[in-house]
Amino acid sequence: MDQLSGKHIVLGLSGGVAAFKSAELCRRLIKAGATVQVVMTEAAQQFMTPVTMQALSGRPVYLSQWDAREHNNMPHINLSRDADAILIAPASADFIARLAQGRADELLSLLCLARPADRVPLLLAPAMNREMWAHPATQRNLGQVVDDGAHVLGVAHGDQACGEFGDGRMLEAEELTEELIAFLTPKSLAGQRLLITAGPTFEAIDPVRGITNLSSGKMGFAIARAAREAGAEVTLVAGPVHLPTPRGVARIDVQSAEDMRQAAVEHAQLADIFVATAAVADWRPAETAEHKIKKDGSGEVPHLAFVENPDILSEVAHSPRAQSGELFCVGFAAESQDLLANAQAKRARKGVPLLVGNIGPATFGKDDNALLLVDDEGASELPQASKRVLAQQLVAEIARRVSGLAA
Ligand code: C5P
Repeated sequence: MDQLSGKHIVLGLSGGVAAFKSAELCRRLIKAGATVQVVMTEAAQQFMTPVTMQALSGRPVYLSQWDAREHNNMPHINLSRDADAILIAPASADFIARLAQGRADELLSLLCLARPADRVPLLLAPAMNREMWAHPATQRNLGQVVDDGAHVLGVAHGDQACGEFGDGRMLEAEELTEELIAFLTPKSLAGQRLLITAGPTFEAIDPVRGITNLSSGKMGFAIARAAREAGAEVTLVAGPVHLPTPRGVARIDVQSAEDMRQAAVEHAQLADIFVATAAVADWRPAETAEHKIKKDGSGEVPHLAFVENPDILSEVAHSPRAQSGELFCVGFAAESQDLLANAQAKRARKGVPLLVGNIGPATFGKDDNALLLVDDEGASELPQASKRVLAQQLVAEIARRVSGLAA
C-alpha cells in the first residue's frame, strides 16, 4: 500500500543504540511508497553503518556539510528544500539539545535549522535512557524545540539497552511509520469526536460457551485508524477480536451486545460521529447458566431459549442528539444478496443518514472489501480495494457530509 507515495522523507539518524530500528524504519517508509534520503551524524555511525542505510534506501547517505557531491556544496539547503518531512530517529538527548540551541556545526542539525519551517515539518523520535529522558534539561530542551515548531513523537516505556526499565525507548519502526502517515494525512476530521463499534459480540450460554459470529473487526479497526489519521479523536468499542489497537485510538473492550450498548450509548453523548460496524448478535440466550452445562450421557440435549438483543445503532440514531443533527450516524449492512435494496431498507429502518452496504460472506476476515454507500441522494460504490484504502475513502465521504452539515 502506497500511503506515502510521492513523499520524500529525510530520515536523520543521531547517535543511539535505537539506530538499529532505523534500518527497519527506512525499509517500511520505502515500502509505503516514500523516497528516503538518509543523513547520519558522526555518532550515529558508531551504531549503524552508512553502507546499510544506503543499501536500504537506495541512495548514498549524507554524512557531512562539506559534501562536494552537491553542485553548490550546500547539502543543508538542497536536502531540506526537497523534503516533505524530516524525521529524526533516533533523536538523542544531545541532538535535541543541539536543536534547542540552534546549533549548525554538523549536517543534520544544520539542515534542520535551514529547513523552510512553514512547509517542511520536523518530527523527532527521541531515544535515550530513562534518567536522561526525565532530566529537567532534556524536558526543557523538548519544550523549546516544540515551541520552535518541531513535532515530538512519544517514547515507549519498557526495557532499555542499559538494563534499566522506564520511559525513553524509541517507538518501533511500525509505530513511527504510522505516526508519519498520520502526520501527513490531511486533517479532514479535525476537532471531531468519532465513536465506532467493531467486531462481533459474544453471548454467553454458560461460563465456557457462547454464540458469536465470523466478523473479524478489520473494517472497523481500519476506519478507526483512518479517522484518527484524519484528525478525529476516536473511541473504539471492540467486541472480542485479535487486532492491535490503532495508535492514538482509545479502545474499550466488550463481550456482549449489552456491554457494547452500554459503552456506545454512554460515549455517544460526547461524540460528533457514530459509526456502527459491529456485527452485533441479533439474539442472546435468555439465560446464562452459572456453571458449565454438562453432558450427562443420557443423550438429552439442552433447549436454549433466545431473546432479542438491543439494536445499538437504532437506539443511538433515534437519540435526541442524532435527531437534531449534532451526532452524525453511519450504519453498516452485511448482506448476502440484494445489497442495494437491503441497504436502502436498512437505512430507513435504522434512521441513519448514511448506510454502508457490503457482502458479508465475501468480506468477513478478509483484507479487502467493496462498499456501497446509500444516502438520501442515492447510492454510490467504493469499488474493491483493501480495507485500509476503503476506510480512508469512507472517512473522506463522512468528512464531506459532516462539513456539509456544519456549513
Ligand atoms: O440489523 P442489522 O444487524 O443488519 O444492521 C446492521 C447495522 O446495525 C450495523 O451498523 C450494526 O453495527 C448495527 N447493529 C447494532 N446493534 C444491533 C444490530 C445491528 O448496532 N443489535
